[in-house]
Amino acid sequence: MKVLVINGPNLNLLGIREPDIYGKQDYKALIEYVELVAKEEGVDVECFHSNHEGEIVDKIQSVMGKADGIVINPAAYTHTSIAIPDALKAVGIPAVEVHISDISKREAYRQQSFVREACLKTYAGLGFEGYKKAILYLKDYLEDKKS
Ligand code: DQA
Repeated sequence: MKVLVINGPNLNLLGIREPDIYGKQDYKALIEYVELVAKEEGVDVECFHSNHEGEIVDKIQSVMGKADGIVINPAAYTHTSIAIPDALKAVGIPAVEVHISDISKREAYRQQSFVREACLKTYAGLGFEGYKKAILYLKDYLEDKKS
C-alpha cells in the first residue's frame, strides 16, 4: 500500500512558526514520526512538502495510478485553493485531510476548507497524531475495499 503525505506552505517551519499553535517539534520530527507510523503499519510512505500551490497540484497528478492513498495538510491553501481539491478529485485517489491545529476554533477565515469535500475524512487539532490517524484510516479503508 503506497501513501503520499503532502504538507503545504510554512509547514517546513514547524518548531519555529507559532509554537504555541503548532508545537515545538520541527518538520524533520514530523517526517520521522510519519515514517515510523508507516513502518509499523507496513505502509510504503512518501513525504512531500511544497510552499507552492502548483507544485502540490503537479505532485498529486504525478501519483495518479501509482499511490493508493493521500494524506494532505494543505496548510493555508486549505482555505483558498480550488485547484488542490480539483486535483484530488481528478486523480480519484482516496484522501484524508489533516490539520495540526483545530481550525474550527480559530479565526473565521480558517473555518472554510475547500479541500474537505475532496477527502474522505478530516483530522484537526490532534497535532502530529492526526497524521497517524489519517494513515490508519486509509489503511482500513483500502483493506475494506479489497475484501
Ligand atoms: C494548518 C492550519 C491552517 O489554517 C494554517 O494556514 C496552516 C496549518 C494546521 O495544520 O493546523 O498553515 O493547516
